Amino acid sequence: MRIKILFVCLGNICRSPLAEAIFKKKVAGKGLQEKILIDSAGTSDFHIGEQPDHRSKKNAIENNLEMDHLARQILKEDLDEFDYVLAMDRKNYENILSLSSAKAHQEKVLLMRGFTFDAFDTGSTDLDVPDPYYGGEEGFQNVYRILNDSCDDLLNFLIKRHPDIL
Ligand code: 4NP
Repeated sequence: MRIKILFVCLGNICRSPLAEAIFKKKVAGKGLQEKILIDSAGTSDFHIGEQPDHRSKKNAIENNLEMDHLARQILKEDLDEFDYVLAMDRKNYENILSLSSAKAHQEKVLLMRGFTFDAFDTGSTDLDVPDPYYGGEEGFQNVYRILNDSCDDLLNFLIKRHPDIL
């Protein structure tokens, strides 16, 4: 069995390609790259076909990540194809849900930070991965830190839920 994971943000040039790169590295680190397929997409059509934002690329290089994704827009068919669709924030979560009213589709859509309680540890109940697009480079480092933690939690969740992949 192959588990298929789709990370989704708005533009598919900042957060979700970084999540894809981080998660691919963690999955490969456990030797699970044949068991878990990983992709990313955006809810908007703003940047279709584009490489990740230069600040995301810089962040990826600094954190030793390989990033070779080109932006694409999520399609309704992705809700058939993928097993887990991880939304970076609530706005994108709602927009993904609006693609289909089928229960089987809706159940696949989860919040990226929904697996971690670190947001609560820091006294915040905000489960969004903040949109770094209009900020500076420090925003991308903050996004990296959040994604790095939540990717660990996601991988632990998947291994617990699908112990047969080990
Ligand atoms: P992302 O960031 O959703 O993390 O890829 C953004 C990229 C582009 C825009 C907004 C957010 N934009 O408005 O073009």
